[in-house]
Amino acid sequence: MRKKIVAGNWKMNLTLLEGAELVNDIFKGLPILSEDKKVVIAPPYTHLTQTAEQLTGMIDVHLGAQNCACEASGAYTGEVSAAMLKSAEVEYVIIGHSERREYFNEDDATLAKKVNQALSNGLEVIFCCGEPLAIRDADTQNEYVENQIKAGLFHLSDSQMGHIVIAYEPIWAIGTGRTASSAQAQDMHAHIRGVVAAKYGETTAENTSILYGGSCKPSNAPELFACPDVDGGLIGGAALKASEFIGIIEAMA
Ligand code: 13P
Repeated sequence: MRKKIVAGNWKMNLTLLEGAELVNDIFKGLPILSEDKKVVIAPPYTHLTQTAEQLTGMIDVHLGAQNCACEASGAYTGEVSAAMLKSAEVEYVIIGHSERREYFNEDDATLAKKVNQALSNGLEVIFCCGEPLAIRDADTQNEYVENQIKAGLFHLSDSQMGHIVIAYEPIWAIGTGRTASSAQAQDMHAHIRGVVAAKYGETTAENTSILYGGSCKPSNAPELFACPDVDGGLIGGAALKASEFIGIIEAMA
């Protein structure tokens, strides 16, 4: 059975001290989670070691990174490899976030290489997809997202696919306060599951967690997470406030 996951993507926010305080506050309010539910916290690289120490003994909360290099090692100034993340006790890595695609020109081929690096170093991947507003307005979002998934993931073996979480994040909903309706989210998530099923079979598709991201907050999370194909959320702004993040985690119940 697939897991429900709420993952906090801190993006480029919070100093070390602020990050430590946030993790402490999350612990204080964290509800008891059943075995099929997980929380992931993805702070900036500089915070990973500190956060790993804070997470020691917290079986429900897992450490994630927001990116990794597409190469294994070498003269790539400023990059952080998947092996380095693994050695810092990172379990998950977000790959293909729309901000990486748009602002850092990460194309499909680069993202496929990052996925390979992550998997070959034993990391779980949260692979992001999602359409810009113009594509939604033209009603071609299904093909657009399908192509992102094919280009980023369809070179993987069946067993590798078992280490992929997919996050659907419509770009027009990220940081805008404009959430996809639960019907829009459900339609896309069902489409994504169908795309995975066509390539990897029903069992793999049923076991793949598909998260929604984009202005998710405690007030809309219950309705979104109640959709049969929405298996949790990838949370930006609301992951920076313990009370909001906990409210979203509670909506997984
Ligand atoms: P917001 O929750 O701030 O809209 O961000 C979503 C996101 O991009 C998470 O990766």
